[in-house]
This record gives sequence, C-alpha cells and structure tokens, in this order.
Amino acid sequence: MKIVVLGASGQTGQCVVTQALEQGHSVTAIVRNPDKIKQKHDNLSVVKADIFSAEELTAAFQGHEAVVSALGFSRSDNPVTGYTESMKAVAAAMRAAQLQRLVVMTAFYTDITSAQGRGFLVNWILIPLIKRVLTNMREMEEWLAAEAQDLRWTVVRPGGLSNRALLAQTPLQQADAQFVADPAAATMIPRANVAQFMLAQLPEDTYTRQVVAIAVK
Ligand SMILES: NC(=O)c1ccc[n+]([C@@H]2O[C@H](COP(=O)([O-])OP(=O)(O)OC[C@H]3O[C@@H](n4cnc5c(N)ncnc54)[C@H](OP(=O)(O)O)[C@@H]3O)[C@@H](O)[C@H]2O)c1
Repeated sequence: MKIVVLGASGQTGQCVVTQALEQGHSVTAIVRNPDKIKQKHDNLSVVKADIFSAEELTAAFQGHEAVVSALGFSRSDNPVTGYTESMKAVAAAMRAAQLQRLVVMTAFYTDITSAQGRGFLVNWILIPLIKRVLTNMREMEEWLAAEAQDLRWTVVRPGGLSNRALLAQTPLQQADAQFVADPAAATMIPRANVAQFMLAQLPEDTYTRQVVAIAVK
C-alpha cells in the first residue's frame, strides 16, 4: 500500500515507518522537521507539511491509500488541542485526496473516570499528570464518531508505551474498551507492537469506525 505516516519522527511513528517499509509498503513520512528522519529507503519519501493545514495535507496525501497517525502532543499545553485540531485537517485532506483508511492511536483511559479502581498509581499519579492529553484524545475520538462516519477509521488504545523490542505475539484486543481488562494484560506495551498492530489494521475491517484497546501479555 501507499501509506502516509503522521508523527513519523516520533518513537512509535519511527516503528511504523520501519515496519511498513519492511512489509513492502511505500511510505510518505509527514513531518515538521525533515532532518529528524535519518532512515533512507527507496520506498520512503519525507515531506514537510503542517499537520494543522488541510491544504498542505491534501497535497501530501494525493496518490496514497491510507493514513497512520502516531502524533503526540505535550501535556504542558493548556488546553491540549493538537489531537482534535490536527484530526480535523487530516479528515478534510483525506476527503479531498480521496483516502478512506485511517488508523490513529490514543491511549487507555481517555475517559478518565475509567481509571477509578485501577490502582493508586494510575488513578492518582498518572491520570492527573496526563489528564489534558487524555481529554483531547477523547475529544478526537468523539469527533471521529460524530463527524467522520464517511471514513474508515480505527482508533487504537494502548497502555504505557515502552521501547522494548517487538514481542512475538498478537496483542490482546478489547473493542470499545477503555483498557484491556484481561488479568494477563501487561501494563506496558512495546511501541513496536503498537506499530505492528496499527499496520495490520490497514487491510482489515474488524475495527472499522471502532475503538480497540490493546495490550501484550
Ligand atoms: N507515553 C506513553 O506511555 C503513551 C501511552 C499511550 C499512548 N501514548 C500516546 O501515543 C502517541 C505516540 O506516542 P510516542 O511516545 O510514540 O510519541 P512521541 O515520540 O512523543 O512522538 C510524537 C510525534 O508527534 C509529532 N508532533 C507533535 N506536535 C507536532 C506538531 N505541532 N506538528 C507536527 N508534528 C508534531 C512529533 O514531531 P517532532 O518529532 O517534530 O516533535 C512526533 O513525531 C502519543 O499521542 C502519546 O500521547 C503514549
């Protein structure tokens, strides 16, 4: 496939780019700073574009089939608006450039009340720290459900991200869930496994217009 990767310079985004190339896809990495992409590959193009500009994204999206987004915004922003504002531009550009498929990541607990009962560390340390990020992720999820039924989107919710090597296992999956409730689920998941799961969704319709929480064992 011809895939656009947003947040390609980020930690998960780099895993997405590497694995997509390994799988034989053509990748266009959309970044604000092209110098950050050190990888070289015949099937990799690096394009500088503003993720908040539907016009710039439309130009970059032409001729592609799918968008994978691993964008992340700072918890210091008050309020955090990057998720919703970039998604509005992405959806407009997808329509203009006639792309249908979008896989985007958020996180466990985008409904912060779901963290109650998940332990002291989660509820009283983690959630207050990243509340503004989670809130805007949730706003983006709600915006997709309300305003983007014409697109084939999937939202992937992982728990804590690590930079461990790819684990050879299919993640536990729970549709429409704030977290994976399975007692076997680990708290952390390698970014490489998230990237692999996101790429695996592109040709699939299992979670189209759905949210899915994932975890490794
Ligand atoms: N940390 C965790 O444990 C955890 C758990 C679950 C979910 N998540 C979420 O998963 C996502 C990916 O996480 P990550 O750690 O892989 O992310 P990351 O390494 O922080 O990468 C974030 C990416 O977003 C890009 N970005 C941010 N603001 C931008 C802007 N204004 N214009 C263009 N690009 C912009 C960054 O570009 P630059 O390289 O140019 O800065 C980078 O490519 C994030 O949304 C994160 O909140 C994190």
